[in-house]
Amino acid sequence: MTKSPAASDLKPLVVAARYEIADGIVSFDLRARDGAALAQFTAGAHVSVQAPNGSVRKYSLSNDPAEVDRYVIAVKREAAGRGGSLSMVDEVKEDDEVRVGPPRNDFPLEPKAREFLFIAGGIGITPILSMMRHLQTTDTGKFQLIYLTRSPAVTAFRAELAAPEFRGRVQLHHDGGDARQALDLWPYLEHPKGRHIYCCGPAPLMAEVRDMTGHWSKTNVHFESFAEGTAAAGAVNLPFKLRLARAAAVLDVGAGETILEALRRNGFDAPSSCESGSCGTCRTKLLAGEAEHRDFVLDAAERRREIMLCVSRAKTAELTVDL
Ligand code: FES
Repeated sequence: MTKSPAASDLKPLVVAARYEIADGIVSFDLRARDGAALAQFTAGAHVSVQAPNGSVRKYSLSNDPAEVDRYVIAVKREAAGRGGSLSMVDEVKEDDEVRVGPPRNDFPLEPKAREFLFIAGGIGITPILSMMRHLQTTDTGKFQLIYLTRSPAVTAFRAELAAPEFRGRVQLHHDGGDARQALDLWPYLEHPKGRHIYCCGPAPLMAEVRDMTGHWSKTNVHFESFAEGTAAAGAVNLPFKLRLARAAAVLDVGAGETILEALRRNGFDAPSSCESGSCGTCRTKLLAGEAEHRDFVLDAAERRREIMLCVSRAKTAELTVDL
């Protein structure tokens, strides 16, 4: 079981460089002040970073895991977010120190896979660029990238993706913010052909890919999300009761907390990792009640009898789970 790192796990790294890599997206090159090697990471990994406003946010690493002396993250300036990414972009300058946790990976490349389809939306390109760099330098798999953004101006890493080593493997699509201009992904997903899909991006994109890959082997479809699950537009978080069948307890889950948070507040623990509905670690049997599912893991049949505790909620006044 992995959890968000404790404050004591965060160590200071220096911002060796920062670059604006697209409108509103800044890349930070983080190194030890003395240039020492950092803890190793694998493609798809992320680190937790404490922003100047005090909040701790997870950011995927975009550089090649073969680089031992730096972590490269890209941060999108989220004006409507909770303030962490905004303060990273607006306040963190070159030579500042930021506190960074050890790398963790909830989105690892399947080592036996040899063919990959990457689907990225917006800032979701960051872990996928690291995967592409790894596969390219180690020559361990064929890959194709579909990268969906609103316009060239907000497309991160355009120069890197245009590099000769990625020629013929990258397809960019800009929809101009118009859903009618969205790329139809079905031709790419209709025939699984033994490939593995890695998808990272906004919740609606991941929900679309999840819905279009119901005929794929579940072990071949992988998602990474740092958002708060696939709440339908306008969805409201209502409070509800959570009955723990084995512990014989009933907890209140408030409107502003997840089931996981309510469990911890009451002294119970449950396995978790990504805490964004994409890794599958917090999967739990649902014994009674109707859940409002917001994850990227469970299929329609599984949703009738299981729930992901990190993001999903209740449609009924009470849920009973096998805890
Ligand atoms: Fe990853 Fe819930 S902790 S899906």
